[in-house]
Amino acid sequence: MRILVTGGAGFLGSHLCERLLKDGHEVICLDNYFSGKRANILHLRDYQNFEIIRHDIVEPILLEVEQIYNLACPASPVHYQYNPVKTVKTSVLGAINTLGIAKRVRARILLTSTSEVYGDPEVHPQKEEYWGNVNPNGERSCYDEGKRVAECLMMNYHRQNKVDIKIVRIFNTYGPRMAINDGRVVSNFCVAALKGEPLELYGDGSATRSFAYVDDIIEAIVRMMNTPTGFTGPVNIGNPDEFTVEELAKLTIEMTGSSSKIVRKPTRADDPTRRRPDITLAKKHLGWEPKIALRDGLARSIEYFRSELKLTRA
Ligand SMILES: NC(=O)c1ccc[n+]([C@@H]2O[C@H](COP(=O)([O-])OP(=O)(O)OC[C@H]3O[C@@H](n4cnc5c(N)ncnc54)[C@H](O)[C@@H]3O)[C@@H](O)[C@H]2O)c1
Repeated sequence: MRILVTGGAGFLGSHLCERLLKDGHEVICLDNYFSGKRANILHLRDYQNFEIIRHDIVEPILLEVEQIYNLACPASPVHYQYNPVKTVKTSVLGAINTLGIAKRVRARILLTSTSEVYGDPEVHPQKEEYWGNVNPNGERSCYDEGKRVAECLMMNYHRQNKVDIKIVRIFNTYGPRMAINDGRVVSNFCVAALKGEPLELYGDGSATRSFAYVDDIIEAIVRMMNTPTGFTGPVNIGNPDEFTVEELAKLTIEMTGSSSKIVRKPTRADDPTRRRPDITLAKKHLGWEPKIALRDGLARSIEYFRSELKLTRA
C-alpha cells in the first residue's frame, strides 16, 4: 500500500515509518520539522519505497494514498505552548486537510488523539466513553481542545461523508528518539540523571502516570488502522501499569547509576494528578496489550539518551 504519515519525522512518526517500510509498504513521510528532525528518519533513506516531503499540514496538499496516519502535531508542552495558536491550527487545519485527502481519494485515515482529551479526569481509570474534564482556555487547551476538535472533525467527516476513519487516544509514551529537550518526564529524568543534575518533581511526587514503550504503541496503532471498516474508535492505547512520578525518578537514578538528587517544585498549571488507561476496548478489538515492562523500556531509552548526550558508560 501507499501510506502517508504526517509528522513522520517525529518521535512516534519515525518509528511508525520504519515499521511500515519493514512491512513492505510505500511510505510518504510529511513533516515541517517543527518538533521532529531529519536525523530521526535518516536511517530509512536506503528504503526505495520511502519518500520525504517537507510540508506544513496547515496548508492543503494533493496526494494519492490508500492510508493516512495523521500524527502531525507537537506533543510535549514545551513544544505545543511555544506557539499555541499554531498548535490549534495544526490540529484543526491538519485534520481538515488530511480528511480532505481521505475523502477525495477514499483513503482510510487514523488520528493520533491523546489522553489529554480527558483533561484532569474525575473518573479513574479512563474509559473511552468518559467525556473528560478539560480547562477550555487554560495553557494546555491549545493541545487538548485542538485534539478534541480534530476528533470532532473525524467523526463528522465519517457521518457526513462516509470517510473511513480510526481514532486512537495515546497515553504517555516514551522511548528512543524522544526529543532531549521536550520537557516530558521520562526524557527530563533520563537526561538529568545521566548529567548528574537534580531530578525535578512537581508537587509532592504522588501524581501518577502510566508509561508505554514506543514499540507497544506502534503495534497498537498499526493494528487499529487495519481493523474492519466501521470500527472507528476512539480506542485508548497505553500501558495501564501506574507509577508515581517519584517512583519513576528513583528507578531512573538507580538504572543510570547516577548520583543525582530529587528536588521538589510547585505543581504546574492544569497538570493532571492521575492518568491511567482502561484498555479493555483495545484488548477486545485489537487483540493487543502492552508487553514491554517499564524497566526494559527505560533501559533502552537510557542507552539512547546516553548516546545522544555523547556520554560513555561509567
Ligand atoms: N508521545 C506521546 O506520549 C503521545 C501521547 C498522546 C498523543 N500523541 C500524539 O502522537 C503524535 C506524535 O507525537 P510525538 O510524540 O511523536 O510528537 P513529536 O513532536 O515528536 O512529533 C510530531 C511531528 O509532527 C511534526 N509537525 C508539527 N507540526 C506540524 C505541521 N504543522 N505540519 C507538519 N508537521 C508538523 C513535527 O515536526 C514532528 O515531527 C501527535 O499527534 C501527538 O499528539 C503522542
